[in-house]
Amino acid sequence: MMATATPVPSDIRDPGLAEQGKRRTDWAARQMPVLRGIAERFAKERPLQGVRIGVSLHITTETAVLLRTLRAGGAQLAVCPSNPLSTRDDVCATLVVDEQIPVFAWYGEDLPSYYRHVAAVLATRPQIVMDDGADLIAALHSGEDAAGLAAAIGGIEETTTGVIRVRSMDASGVLRFPVIAVNDALTKHLYDNRYGTGQNTIDGILRATNVLLAGATFAVAGYGWCGRGIAMRARGMGAQVIVTEIDPVKALEAHMDGFRVLPMAEAVREADIVVTVTGGHGVVSADHFESLKDGAILANSGHFDVEVDVAALRALAVTRRPVREHIEEYVLPSGKHVYLLAEGRLVGQAAAEASPAALMDMSFANQALCTEYLAREHPGLEPGVYDVPAAIDRQVAQLKLTALGIRIDQLSPDQEQYLASWQSGT
Ligand SMILES: NC(=O)c1ccc[n+]([C@@H]2O[C@H](COP(=O)([O-])OP(=O)(O)OC[C@H]3O[C@@H](n4cnc5c(N)ncnc54)[C@H](O)[C@@H]3O)[C@@H](O)[C@H]2O)c1
Repeated sequence: MMATATPVPSDIRDPGLAEQGKRRTDWAARQMPVLRGIAERFAKERPLQGVRIGVSLHITTETAVLLRTLRAGGAQLAVCPSNPLSTRDDVCATLVVDEQIPVFAWYGEDLPSYYRHVAAVLATRPQIVMDDGADLIAALHSGEDAAGLAAAIGGIEETTTGVIRVRSMDASGVLRFPVIAVNDALTKHLYDNRYGTGQNTIDGILRATNVLLAGATFAVAGYGWCGRGIAMRARGMGAQVIVTEIDPVKALEAHMDGFRVLPMAEAVREADIVVTVTGGHGVVSADHFESLKDGAILANSGHFDVEVDVAALRALAVTRRPVREHIEEYVLPSGKHVYLLAEGRLVGQAAAEASPAALMDMSFANQALCTEYLAREHPGLEPGVYDVPAAIDRQVAQLKLTALGIRIDQLSPDQEQYLASWQSGT
C-alpha cells in the first residue's frame, strides 16, 4: 500500500519551486560521482525492484540524489524528515513533481506534524526503514503497529545518535529486525562527521550571525568525530578553541591536538561561542547560563535539540525576542544577553545546508549499497545491529578515490607474504 496523497502545502506542487529544486539537486549530483555510478548500475540491475522503503532523512539536495538512486534500483519510496528545520521545500517539490515520490514534510513543521509524517511513512508498510536518528525504527517498535513491524525486514541507520538508540533497543531485547549501522562505516564517520559537521557547523554559525571567528573564544562540547572536525575548522578560522569532554581519552587527545581542555562550568565564563555536539542532553544547562559572557552565542550540532537546555533558558530569561533569522536573544535576570541559534537544533542543517555533497556522496553510497545488501541478505540476518560489511566500506573508498583520480599502490605477492608470516622479522 503506497500513499497516494502527499500532505504538503500546495505550493510544494508549484512547478517553479520544483524546477529550482531539480536544478539544485542536479548541482549536488555533479559532486556525487560514487552515487551516480551506483545509480547507473542500479538502473540496469534493479536490485530493489518493488521493495518498499520508508525514509526519514534531512530532506536536502543530497538526499534527493540518494532517493533518485534507490528509485533507479526499483524501490518504492515514502519520505519524511528527520528534523523539522532541515527540510528544503524546493527539494520536496522536485521529489513530488519530477520523481513522483510521496513526501510528507515541509520546512518548519511543528512537532505534531512531524510525528504525523513519521506515521504517514509507516502507513505505507515499508519493508526497509532508512533512518537518521532512529525515529522510524523506534516508532515501529512502540507496540502500536504490530502489522507494520511484521512487514519490516530491516533498517539502515545513518547517525551516531540513532545507532546508540538501536543498540539500546537491541540490549533491551526489543529489536525485532536487523539494522545496519551506516554511521559506523569508516567511509561515513571519518569524513561526514569530521569534515562535514566541521564545515557545516561553522557555515551555519557564520550564515546565522556573520560574526568574526578570528580571535573569538570558541568552546566545543564533545571531542568525538564531529567535535574534532568543528574544533579543527574553528581553529583554522583563527578562533581560540576550548574543548569540554567527559571521556579522559578524548580529553587527552584534544589536549595533545593543541586545544585547551576545561570543564563546561569554566568554559562558559570565557567563550564567545559555545557549540554542543555530544549526542547527550543538558550539556549547557541552568547551571551555566548566568556564567556566560554578555553576548555569548549558543549553538548545537548534536542530533537532538536537547544539548542546550532550551526549556531552562526560556524559564530563566526575563525576555526573549528574535533578532534575525535563526537568532533568538534571551535577556537573563542579571541583564546579560545570550543568543541561541536555530532553537538549539542542528545549526549546520537549519542555518546552512548540512554537509557538502562531496561527503554525502560516501555516506549515501553506503546507504544505497547497504540497502541492496539488506534486501538480498535479510533472510540470513537475525535481529540485531550490524556493521557495514568491510567490503562495502572499502568499495566506497575505492570508488571515491577513482572518481577523484587518485591512484594508490598495491602490495606485491612478496609483501603480502611478509605481512602474513609471523616468522618474518628481519
Ligand atoms: N551536525 C551534523 O551534521 C552531524 C553529523 C553526524 C552526527 N551528528 C550528531 O552529532 C552528535 C555527536 O556525534 P559524533 O559522531 O561526534 O559522536 P562521538 O560518539 O564520536 O562523540 C561524542 C563525544 O561527546 C562526548 N560527550 C558526551 N557527553 C558529553 C558531555 N556532557 N560533555 C562533553 N562531552 C561529552 C563523548 O565522550 C564523545 O567523545 C550525535 O548526536 C550525532 O548523531 C551530527
